[in-house]
Amino acid sequence: MTILFCSDSEPPGPWRLACARAFPRMAFRTWPDTGARDEIRYALVWQQPPGSLAGLPNLKAILVLGAGVDAVLSDAALPADVPVLRLVDAGLPGPMAEYALYAVLHFQRRMADYFQQQRAALWRRREEMLARQWRVGVMGLGVIGATVARRIAAQGFPVAGWSRSGKSVEGVEVHAGTAGLDPFLARSRVLVNVLPLTSQTRGILGGRTFAAMPRGGYVVNIGRGAHVVDADLIAALDSGQLAGAMLDVFEQEPLPVAHPFWRHPAIIVTPHVAAPTLASESESQVVENIRRLERGEPPLGVVDRDRGY
Ligand code: NAP
Ligand code: GLV
Repeated sequence: MTILFCSDSEPPGPWRLACARAFPRMAFRTWPDTGARDEIRYALVWQQPPGSLAGLPNLKAILVLGAGVDAVLSDAALPADVPVLRLVDAGLPGPMAEYALYAVLHFQRRMADYFQQQRAALWRRREEMLARQWRVGVMGLGVIGATVARRIAAQGFPVAGWSRSGKSVEGVEVHAGTAGLDPFLARSRVLVNVLPLTSQTRGILGGRTFAAMPRGGYVVNIGRGAHVVDADLIAALDSGQLAGAMLDVFEQEPLPVAHPFWRHPAIIVTPHVAAPTLASESESQVVENIRRLERGEPPLGVVDRDRGY
C-alpha cells in the first residue's frame, strides 16, 4: 500500500515524516517516481502536475493539502469516481485573518502615504478616519471567511459578509446570493475576497463589482487570482473608482515579471503567503482522514464536485 505525494511546488519532506510516523507500514513515494501504480491508495496533492492522478486503479482518495481545490478540479485527467478531500480549518483561518486585518489597517491608517512621505522626509498629517467609518465587506463566509469577518469586526470595523446561503456569523451583517450582492457591495469601502474559485465566482472582482462599490474603495484578494479581471482592476484604480488593492493570489503564479501589477503605484503584491499550509497544523487532519478511510468511515472535508468547493 502506497501514499503518493504529487506537487509541483511543495517539498515532500514534512509529509514523508508525518506519514512514516502515522503509517509505518505504508510506502511513501513522490511523483513521478510512483513505483507500482496499482499499489497507490492515497494521493497527497498541491498544485499537482496535470495528469499525475490518472491511471491509478486503486486510488481511494485525493487529499488536497490546502483549502482551495480549483487546481485539482480543473485537471482534465482527474479520476471521476475518487473522492477529493480538502483541508478544513487546519491552521489556515488565523493567518488569513491576520493578512486581511493588516490590509484593512494599512488602508485605513494611510500607511502607503506615510511610507511615501518618509522617502521625501515629509512631515504631514493625513486626515484621520475612525475604524467605525470604514465599512468592510468579506466575500465568502466559509471556514476562513467567517474568521476573517469576525476578527476585523472585533477591531471596531462595521463588517458585512456575502455568501451563497447567507449563513449567519455573529457580529457580522450577512447578505446572500445574487440578490444580496449589490447592497453588500454598495456599503463596502474595503472588499476582502475569500471565495473559492468556481465557474460562478471566476472574474467576480471585475468592472461591474468595482462600479457597485463606493468611489475610492479598496480591494483585498486572498481567494484566487482568477477571481480578478486584471484589466478591470487597473482601469478602476486608474479612474479613481478604487484607491488601492492588496493582492496575494494571481492567475499565473509566480506573477510574471512583466505583469503591470508589480509596478502599479496603488497595488501591493505578496507572493501567495496569506496562509501557507503547514504540516504541523494540518497533518493530524490528513492522517485522520486516511485512518477513517482505512476503517471504512466517512472522511472529513469532502468536496462537492458539482458545486466546485
Ligand atoms: P469554504 O469553507 O468552502 O467557504 C467558501 C465560502 O464561499 C462559503 O461561505 C460559500 O457559501 C461561499 N461561496 C462559494 N460560492 C459562492 C457563490 N457563488 N456566491 C456566494 N458565495 C459563495 O472555503 P474556505 O476554507 O473558507 O476557503 C476559501 C478560499 O480561500 C479557498 O477556496 C482558497 O481559494 C482561499 N485560500 C487562500 C489562501 C491564501 O494563502 N491566499 C489560503 C487558504 C485558502 P456557503 O456558505 O453558502 O456555502
Ligand atoms: C491556499 O491557497 C489554499 O487554498 O489552502
